[in-house]
Amino acid sequence: MRLGSLRGRFLLAILLWVMVGIGGIWYSSVRLFTGHVESQYHEELEVHVRELGGLTSLDAQGRPHLARPLSDPRYAEPLSGFYWQITRPGFGTLKSPSMTRGELDYDIAHSPSILHRVANGPTGPAIVYGFIREAPGGPPLHFVIATDERHLQRIISAFTRELTVWLALLALALLASGLAIITFGLRPFNQLSRAIDALRKGERRRIDGRYPDEIEAVVSDLNAYIDRNAEIVERGRVEASSLAHSLRTPLAVITDEAERLLERGQSDAAKVFLDQSGRMQRQIDYHLARVRSGGSKAGMRPQARLAEVLPPLLDAMRRCHPGKRFVAAHSADATLAMDEDDLSEILSNLLDNAGKWAASEVRITFAQGGSGERLLIEDDGPGLAPENHEAVFGVGHTGSDGNGGSGLGLAISRAIARDYGGDVQIGSAAAGSGACLVLLLP
Ligand SMILES: Nc1ncnc2c1ncn2[C@@H]1O[C@H](COP(=O)(O)OP(=O)(O)OP(=O)(O)O)[C@@H](O)[C@H]1O
Ligand SMILES: [Mg+2]
Repeated sequence: MRLGSLRGRFLLAILLWVMVGIGGIWYSSVRLFTGHVESQYHEELEVHVRELGGLTSLDAQGRPHLARPLSDPRYAEPLSGFYWQITRPGFGTLKSPSMTRGELDYDIAHSPSILHRVANGPTGPAIVYGFIREAPGGPPLHFVIATDERHLQRIISAFTRELTVWLALLALALLASGLAIITFGLRPFNQLSRAIDALRKGERRRIDGRYPDEIEAVVSDLNAYIDRNAEIVERGRVEASSLAHSLRTPLAVITDEAERLLERGQSDAAKVFLDQSGRMQRQIDYHLARVRSGGSKAGMRPQARLAEVLPPLLDAMRRCHPGKRFVAAHSADATLAMDEDDLSEILSNLLDNAGKWAASEVRITFAQGGSGERLLIEDDGPGLAPENHEAVFGVGHTGSDGNGGSGLGLAISRAIARDYGGDVQIGSAAAGSGACLVLLLP
């Protein structure tokens, strides 16, 4: 999928949108949850340190003494990560049963109001709470409570893990639905591209079907453009043929008059008249044939099946050139990217020539390769001299053997083939024998 395509652009936009959205949700959820869990933790620890203070009294020697264990059982379990410590400098230290090793820095508690910070505990970094309480006749009591930071981290990372999995699934679901929306939204474009393809292939004359409003406007403009184009071409054809027809009668009169002059012996002027009017007639015939051919279909890619176009032509050729054999070799599904009438026009010209000049046989072969389609028409006649290879395609060019006609066939054939981006050329015939004419289509 290219970035230049609409689909690619939409997909990239959705990808960015989902990534930014889901990333934002992930980040703010983790922040919110962490803040929430931390404040709950801190509240709980504050309650515990207050309870510790409330349960502590001094014995007769001024040493701290706990009336009963703290209500939370985790302070009794060895190295549980929950510890407390009461210190009265010079009078001794009391520790929770959980603190089987190590000691907390009692100096963390240095103010009557409760303070907290992160410090080193017996089992790693810990959140420590503490305060001091004045005691009669001596130094104050330092109350310290610590909880391993890892407990807090564990809760937060478990939440983060789960959240990540869920959000990743949500992102996938959003991307999938985005793709479905793009496919649905762009369907009219696929429909339009199929319609234009049908137009190019000559299967349709207009773009039909219903389209969303935004595209409908373009489609109706396009249809109007196509109609207008067809109208202009049609008008051109009509005008060209009526011009040709209107010239025919005066031309016939001139020719007639020239022949009469010739009979009266005024041969020089008559020859000029005859020659020039013959040339005019050929030009008219050539251009009329061009107008008749599918000039308006140029740029489209219709398909003509050889199996349908060739047989009727061969029948006609066998009748026109009795004694000549016409042999065709092509697969049953051979097609050429041309209008059937145009292909017929080209083939009838080439076959007629081959039939005229062949000694006995005309071969028609079809080949389809990487560079395009090639239709070969070969005969076993005298062939064409290399210096005439281009000249024979000129309007009115005929050979000197007196066999020629009006010299239009090859010119018309080439012009039609070129309308389709192809050509008619003289190919290299098999050694020393006949002519080989090739119709090439891209
Ligand atoms: N297969 C061929 N073998 C030999 N010469 C050929 C062959 N095809 C064409 N030519 C030569 O090329 C000339 C031009 O051919 P083209 O088909 O254009 O005109 P034409 O056959 O003379 O007249 P028409 O307009 O009736 O077709 C021919 O007069 C002939 O001299
Ligand atoms: Mg000819």
